Amino acid sequence: MKLNRIERWVVNNPFRAFEQWMEIGWMKKKMPLTPGGRFLDLGCGRGAGARIIVEAFQPSRLYALDLDISMVQMANNYLAPRDHDNISLVVGNALHLPFEDASLEAVFGFGFLHHVVQWRGALSEVARVLKDGGVYFIEELYPALYQNFLTKRLLVHPREDRFHSNDLRQELEGLKMPVRVALELKNFGILGVAVKEG
Ligand SMILES: C[S@@+](CC[C@H](N)C(=O)[O-])C[C@H]1O[C@@H](n2cnc3c(N)ncnc32)[C@H](O)[C@@H]1O
Repeated sequence: MKLNRIERWVVNNPFRAFEQWMEIGWMKKKMPLTPGGRFLDLGCGRGAGARIIVEAFQPSRLYALDLDISMVQMANNYLAPRDHDNISLVVGNALHLPFEDASLEAVFGFGFLHHVVQWRGALSEVARVLKDGGVYFIEELYPALYQNFLTKRLLVHPREDRFHSNDLRQELEGLKMPVRVALELKNFGILGVAVKEG
């Protein structure tokens, strides 16, 4: 589901980039990956996270994918010419990822999964494209944050079949991609690292 005007403003500003910079630093500390390899930033938005991921993890290629062509165009403008050496922008749907099975070392999802109606389908796509031992870095919000009295009036999100902490963890375990380490406020959201078991 695409963002409305208010949420576009919430995510497309320097404070959000700073927050992602802090979070990616935490992720790298918890799961430092060998430089190289193919990574994916799912629901990349305007591309600020993609640039920070490349600086921190140095993949050989990062695919930055979003459903919304206007977000991908924004990323194209946001990224400097040299960023394009390592980053490929893709318009696509998390439910049908344009990657082979077991072809990626890492997938990042910053605040994107709670926008997907069929969030379980998106997770199974993440599990499909990750190699064994591949890592899914997660930053997600739970309904208490995006469907409370205020936010449900201001923002647009799917309303049915929403996931809380237990639902997300159970689904990841079922996909043999359990959360290994997390910073979590149980009702509000998670910053986590899940690893696909071989
Ligand atoms: C809240 S924004 C987060 C953007 C960026 N990751 C960030 O953290 O600033 C969620 C993004 O997910 C994208 N999105 C929503 N559903 C999607 C889907 N099914 N496949 C790919 N991207 C999707 C939206 O277009 C939006 O750009």
